[in-house]
Amino acid sequence: MISPLAVLLTTCSFWCIFVTSVSISVPRDQVEILLALKNEFPSRNCDRKLADGVLQSPSANITSWTKDANSFDGVSFDEKTGAVTELNLRGACINGTIKPNSNLFRFQHLRYLSLSMNHFDTSSFHAGFGRLTNLEYLDLSQNSFIGQVTSSISNLSRLNTLDLSYNKFTNDNTPDTINFDSLPFKSLESLDLSGNVITRLNIGSKNLQELTLSSCNITEFPTFIKTLRSLQKLDLSKNRIVGKAPSLRYNSLLSELDLSSNAFHGSFPMIPPTMQIIYASNNYFTGDISLSLCNASGLGRLDLSNNNFSGSIPRCLIGKSLGTLKLHNNNLIGTLPYIEKSGLQILDVGHNQISGKLPRSLVNCTSLMFLNVENNRINDTFPFWLKALPDLQIIVLRSNIFHGLISSPRSHHPFPALRILDISHNNFYGRLNMELGKIPEAFTAIAISGNRLGGEIPESIGHLPSSLANLKQLESLDLSQNQLSGEIPEELRVLTFLAYLNVSHNKLTGQIPQSTQIVGQPKASFEGNIGLCGLPLQESCFRDNVPTSIPQTPEKVLNWKAATIGYGPGVLFGLAIGQALGLYKPVLFYKLFRL
Ligand SMILES: *[C@@H]1O[C@H](CO)[C@@H](O)[C@H](O)[C@H]1NC(C)=O
Ligand SMILES: *[C@@H]1O[C@H](CO)[C@@H](O)[C@H](O)[C@H]1NC(C)=O
Ligand SMILES: *[C@@H]1O[C@H](CO)[C@@H](O)[C@H](O)[C@H]1NC(C)=O
Ligand SMILES: *[C@@H]1O[C@H](CO)[C@@H](O)[C@H](O)[C@H]1NC(C)=O
Ligand SMILES: *[C@@H]1O[C@H](CO)[C@@H](O)[C@H](O)[C@H]1NC(C)=O
Ligand SMILES: *[C@@H]1O[C@H](CO)[C@@H](O)[C@H](O)[C@H]1NC(C)=O
Ligand SMILES: *[C@@H]1O[C@H](CO)[C@@H](O)[C@H](O)[C@H]1NC(C)=O
Ligand SMILES: *[C@@H]1O[C@H](CO)[C@@H](O)[C@H](O)[C@H]1NC(C)=O
Ligand SMILES: *[C@@H]1O[C@H](CO)[C@@H](O)[C@H](O)[C@H]1NC(C)=O
Repeated sequence: MISPLAVLLTTCSFWCIFVTSVSISVPRDQVEILLALKNEFPSRNCDRKLADGVLQSPSANITSWTKDANSFDGVSFDEKTGAVTELNLRGACINGTIKPNSNLFRFQHLRYLSLSMNHFDTSSFHAGFGRLTNLEYLDLSQNSFIGQVTSSISNLSRLNTLDLSYNKFTNDNTPDTINFDSLPFKSLESLDLSGNVITRLNIGSKNLQELTLSSCNITEFPTFIKTLRSLQKLDLSKNRIVGKAPSLRYNSLLSELDLSSNAFHGSFPMIPPTMQIIYASNNYFTGDISLSLCNASGLGRLDLSNNNFSGSIPRCLIGKSLGTLKLHNNNLIGTLPYIEKSGLQILDVGHNQISGKLPRSLVNCTSLMFLNVENNRINDTFPFWLKALPDLQIIVLRSNIFHGLISSPRSHHPFPALRILDISHNNFYGRLNMELGKIPEAFTAIAISGNRLGGEIPESIGHLPSSLANLKQLESLDLSQNQLSGEIPEELRVLTFLAYLNVSHNKLTGQIPQSTQIVGQPKASFEGNIGLCGLPLQESCFRDNVPTSIPQTPEKVLNWKAATIGYGPGVLFGLAIGQALGLYKPVLFYKLFRL
């Protein structure tokens, strides 16, 4: 009796290429189709830059494909038959047009196909795709596909994942839009149509778990969504949806919701307690921060910034699992609630009407990285008590009623991770004592304008470390509205990268360093001092009545004074921590407080 294996081997010896190092053999026809496919696209284009400017690295290299079955980077074969079942050509630098008779459509056993992030310019969704009836995973995202999604797509009845995002698919009813009256796929679990203009959409699958419809010019909340009982992730961001958001309580598995950048009005929708991530910034939501949010005990990220929420911040909101809380730019009142020992990393309640003190319990949020309370009515002293937080990188207290002396008992390594400190427009007073050398390397930006801080700009900053050369990222030096005295150090001339310098409304004297960068600043940046002269001001330094020497103060040598690096107003506004830090590469060197 001949074993089935023997039959397979005998048959194979005629038209299989045996490959010793892999356990499967690849039928010659599959090799031929692969090589023919490679030859269809002789041109390579690896120019695609990702959002952060980094060049993508190709995931599969089809240039390397040869007759050797091991060479087929990005290809998987069926273990038994050797048929091509997976083509993962994501970001493979392929440049060209898929023709109606492309060899691509000859892989009848293909279950997984990703062509995303290539350059299939002027390619269409040919009927040929409908021949790949075994496809379970199809990703054509981020190419320049054009034209209609032909009805052949309805042939792909086994599809589990469909990603057509960021192309230029169109319809016959209206140019530049796609219109899926019905996508009949029973087994579809994940659908992404972002970046295509959608006029109508209805999805037959009740199993849909992930629906991504970002930037689709949608104007009404798609009602079929309420019937998707398996839905776990819903992204409707960056559309033009107006009106009230319907209750999502019966999407009882929903855990991630993105409604941001629409025109939703009214109160926040009811949500199921399964929610973990909610982004709803940039809308017109009103009313209290719903208590249904408190029911979501596993909530990890909440962003309700730039809405019109009112009332106070419910204490129950800040559960143990909350990592990000952004409530920027609403109408919230009351005090910040007691915050339990938690994993909170980002707390941004800027631009509200919050009063009272910072909750001392913040000291127990040992993961805190970003604290922004700007533009509120917080009446407190400087939170030196946060000095032991090991990850605290950004503190923004700008425009509140913080007050008191800026000085504190010495302490070994205070604020070990601090990079950006903005305490401007408060009521701090005292001398700014800086010590060169002890400052954490990472310190990148300090804004102190609009306080009552005194001291001199040091007459020489010539001892600066060579890392100063790296300061190219910094936008500005803002010392305005304090009581700083002395001269602007001549050495500031080397800071030619500074786009913004402001020393106005202090008690500075002497000549403004005459470099292009400094002289090019508006006059307003130097006004309101005792005796500054030289361009851009009108006052010449060579008139008899202008002081030519700096008034000496006894503690001049002892006290290093306030040369602080600030940044343009509002730079932090709305930025995520990563972006904020990205703007300020770790270069600075000053120590603000003698601690
Ligand atoms: C792709 O493969 C070709 C041929 O093997 C090789 O010359 C080239 O360096 C490879 N490219 C990358 C990015 O690995
Ligand atoms: C991409 O292919 C097109 C033809 O399909 C060609 O005109 C273009 O120069 C190619 N671009 C690169 C970068 O190879
Ligand atoms: C759909 O698939 C069948 C085979 O399953 C094929 O005969 C038919 O041509 C396909 N339709 C389209 C539009 O590709
Ligand atoms: C978005 O929809 C509006 C009407 O709802 C329409 O005027 C506009 O042209 C659409 N934008 C695009 C890019 O299709
Ligand atoms: C919170 O959950 C409980 C039970 O899970 C439910 O009865 C109650 O209505 C929910 N409250 C809100 C405000 O959603
Ligand atoms: C914001 O809400 C308040 C009531 O809390 C209302 O008076 C005001 O008109 C709302 N503003 C906008 C822009 O919707
Ligand atoms: C910090 O947490 C501990 C218990 O973990 C608690 O005893 C202490 O009171 C908390 N500190 C503040 C300021 O809430
Ligand atoms: C700040 O709080 C103190 C009491 O702690 C109070 O005396 C003072 O008037 C408050 N300042 C303002 C501007 O409300
Ligand atoms: C400098 O700061 C002062 C006070 O903070 C402000 O009035 C002025 O407009 C600023 N100058 C420039 C050029 O921004």
